[in-house]
This record gives sequence, structure tokens and C-alpha cells, in this order.
Amino acid sequence: MKVVTVSNIKGGSAKSTTAIHLSESLSRRGKTLVIDMDMQADLTDFFLPNLSPDSIEDKNIMTLLLGKSSVSEVIIPGKGIDIIPSTLTLSKLVRIASDSFFLSQQLKKALESVKSKYEYVVIDTPGSAKYELTSALYVAQLVLIPVTPSKWAIRAVNLLLDEIAQTESLFSAKKKSAFLPCLFGASKKHRDILERLKTIEEIPTLNEIPKSESIKTKTEKNEFLKKGSNPWHAFDILADEVIKLIDPESIFPFSG
Ligand SMILES: Nc1ncnc2c1ncn2[C@@H]1O[C@H](COP(=O)(O)OP(=O)(O)OP(=O)(O)O)[C@@H](O)[C@H]1O
Ligand SMILES: [Mg+2]
Repeated sequence: MKVVTVSNIKGGSAKSTTAIHLSESLSRRGKTLVIDMDMQADLTDFFLPNLSPDSIEDKNIMTLLLGKSSVSEVIIPGKGIDIIPSTLTLSKLVRIASDSFFLSQQLKKALESVKSKYEYVVIDTPGSAKYELTSALYVAQLVLIPVTPSKWAIRAVNLLLDEIAQTESLFSAKKKSAFLPCLFGASKKHRDILERLKTIEEIPTLNEIPKSESIKTKTEKNEFLKKGSNPWHAFDILADEVIKLIDPESIFPFSG
């Protein structure tokens, strides 16, 4: 099983879009589980558009993290990909839990118990540093960091790298990371940001996901990308890059 956490502390940096279409291209290579760890529940809406919030009130990512539900109770099959749904009440997690350690251990235990069932796990995270982010970073073998062209891009990336370093020292587990440029144009301003990103040591910058109206509209309509289209190919290449980046020796569960 290979676990990819999609993260960037900056809001609106294409995390959910990346998690959705990467999950789809990974699911063509092996059974995939998607975990929605953002209270905005964009992935839950995409994969389970007809879900009634009442039906998951006591079976969702929050109840899993708190040890109140087992992993088999919270997984729902959706669009060929299984999903652990999120809920607005995740916003209360920081008040209910005293720290992220227990939650991280619960998530690790949950993934260990399904490791023979899934080839890939993709986790979407919130655009801020919260306990759920720490837990999602903790279980990741690869932290995929989508970066969009804004004047805050490099600062936001550095904040996330700090967060990853803290998680590594907290749990003594080393993480692999990669940048995924999204929505970059040809302007000098955009290319300069990209060049600065590439100077950050030890973290590879992957092939760009282009700005595309069809990525935006298809995602909003809860549809997958058209097979063979340019955006579809971009995520297909991304799936191969992601698989290659995760060391085949680093089999889940990792030590730590
Ligand atoms: N490659 C792309 N081409 C065009 N639009 C895109 C692309 N990637 C993302 N977008 C659009 O950018 C916006 C932000 O994307 P998304 O919701 O995935 O970001 P996010 O990081 O998950 O945001 P949040 O922090 O709020 O969770 C959305 O409107 C999405 O449709
Ligand atoms: Mg999102």
C-alpha cells in the first residue's frame, strides 16, 4: 500500500482537484482508497454526490480519528473508488482532542488494518495547520504539494515544510515530498515563482498540471476528466511519477 497526502497550508491551491483526479488515475492501476480530511468535504461531495449528511453523522473521518468507529464502518464505495467521508463537525476536533498524537495513531492503525485491500491511499487535507493535517502527514509516504502561482506561494510552501519537519521529529519518521505546479502560465512572474520553487533543495518539482477550463468545470460537475484529453494525460503521468517516487522498500506500515 502506498499513501499519498496532498497538502498545502495555503487555501485554494488545487489540493482537492489534485486529490480527485490523481485518485482516478491511480485507481486504474490498483484499488484506491480516498480519505477526505477537510471539513469542507469537497472530495466527499465529488465521490458521493447523493450522500445525506445525516447518514454519516456517526461514521466519518472524525469518528475514526477519535477511535469511535472502526475503519470498515466508515468506508463507503463511490465511483469505483472507496472513500472515507468528511464532515463539518471535523471543525470541532481541535477542541475535543488534546493533541494530534492519539489521532495519528488511530489513523495509522486504521490504514494498517486495510493495507492488504488497497494498493493506493490518497488523503486530502485542509488549507490550514490543524491536528488532522499532522495525522495525514504522519501516515504519508509521499507528501504531494500542489503549488499555484501567487505571491504567497513560496512562504506557504516553507510553512508546510516546517510542519512536515515537526511531524518528522515528533514521530521520528522521515517523509518524502514533491512539488506539483498547478495553474502556472507563461508570464515572467509565474515562471519566476516556478524557478524559486525549483531551488528548494531535496524536493523534486513534478510535471505541471496545466490551467484548464475542463479540469475546473468537470470537477465542479462531479465528473472525471475525458479519457485521452490533455488534462487526463497530465494526471496519468502524475500517477506514474507518484508511484515512482515512493520507495518500493518503504512498505506501509513504516516504523515510528
Ligand atoms: N488545473 C486547473 N485548471 C483550472 N482550474 C483549476 C485547476 N486546478 C484547480 N482549479 C480551480 O482552482 C480552485 C481551487 O482548487 P481546489 O478547490 O482544488 O483547491 P484547494 O487547495 O483544495 O482549496 P481549499 O484550500 O479551499 O481546500 C477551484 O475553483 C478549482 O476548480
Ligand atoms: Mg480543498
